[in-house]
Amino acid sequence: MNRRGFLIGLGALAAGGWLLRPDNRGAAHAPYFLKINDTLKEHGPGRPLMLVDHPRLAANCQTLMTMLPDGKAFRIVAKSLPSVPLIQEVMTHTGSQRVMVFHQPFMNALADAAPGCDMLLGKPMPVQAARQFYQELGNQHGFAPARQLQWLVDSLPRLEQYLSLARELDQPMRINVEIDVGLHRGGLTEPQQLDALLERIHAHPDHLSFSGFMGYDAHVGKLPAFIENATEGHRKTEARYQAFIQRLYQQAPHYRSQSLCFNGAGSPTIALYDETSVVNELSAGSCLVKASDFELPQLSSFQPAVFIAAPVIKAIDGLALPGPVPLGDAWQRWDPNRQRTYFIYGGYWKARPESPAGIQANGVYGASTNQMMYNGSAETALTMDDQIFFRPTQSEFVLLQFGDLAVWDGRRISDWWPVLSQGSGA
Ligand SMILES: Cc1ncc(COP(=O)(O)O)c(C=O)c1O
Repeated sequence: MNRRGFLIGLGALAAGGWLLRPDNRGAAHAPYFLKINDTLKEHGPGRPLMLVDHPRLAANCQTLMTMLPDGKAFRIVAKSLPSVPLIQEVMTHTGSQRVMVFHQPFMNALADAAPGCDMLLGKPMPVQAARQFYQELGNQHGFAPARQLQWLVDSLPRLEQYLSLARELDQPMRINVEIDVGLHRGGLTEPQQLDALLERIHAHPDHLSFSGFMGYDAHVGKLPAFIENATEGHRKTEARYQAFIQRLYQQAPHYRSQSLCFNGAGSPTIALYDETSVVNELSAGSCLVKASDFELPQLSSFQPAVFIAAPVIKAIDGLALPGPVPLGDAWQRWDPNRQRTYFIYGGYWKARPESPAGIQANGVYGASTNQMMYNGSAETALTMDDQIFFRPTQSEFVLLQFGDLAVWDGRRISDWWPVLSQGSGA
């Protein structure tokens, strides 16, 4: 190729590249976020906050209750809503006192704040955590563990540990048995394994009683549809669950007339259950605040109800990247979504920018938990002390990173809800 041809080729490449420029995706905050932005700018504490939209939370609770099949109870998954007042709010809006718990300090806090609640463990706890729970509960308490608490047991050795503790404390314990309905995260894999556990429980009626099964189905709907679709996965789960119930009734027919707890489901699968299901209660938590991982077709009627609000500390025109090459300048000319640079208070959370539209992190500049860089087009129009809003990807961990939750009532921050304590020294 001669020099002229080379230059024409280069020019064509540059023109083609220019035509492939990203569209300007930026826009100012929509009215919902603008209202929060302006309120926080004026009256906020000037640090990143985790907001809970109270009207949306209440609406999500109503949505869930309308989805619940006849005859099935609802159990609140505490792990995904890690704040006692948040759980209490969900109790008020759903009428459910049933909570699935996953952390000993939270169990004690909940027993203190809501002594009428009914707790089922969502994972088998080391027996030392059970011991700690009784120690912290004391004797004079409105919460009666012998009636209101089901420990989760996944094996005979764990049952033996709980039996020893029950005898030592002279404390009757209700035992719920974890069963593997296809998730393969432990629990009994075969119905016959139940026999040895039942035998042990029945041999110690003063200290142990059988209260039901917990069979979680998080695997359903996760496989590519050509391998197994959600309906088919659910049908298999039900069949496995039924096999355990059948074995139970075969071995101990008197349970047929008792009210046992057959727990199942989670936010992504709750819509698959109907009144014919073998379970009698369904668990969910995440769908009530709907972090972005729960943006699923079957949960489309739920609204996102938690957002991070982070103040913009520095708002700068253009994109300046360190180093001798003016890469940032060329980049922002090519991509209009890099025209503005915002450094925010904090960052690097498990969360995605939500508003204003078109905001994105800068992978070349890198991430920071102190002052993270975001870019947006000129239309994002943020100035110092405005807020960037993020949607957490999940709730159980991210909700714990901001101190008390800021409760947004549609006009102002009307309350602050403390989050779950991770525990203090023994
Ligand atoms: C045992 C159990 N049940 C149910 C759930 C469902 O919780 P969510 O509705 O928040 O997804 C979980 C979540 O991990 C769980 O571990």
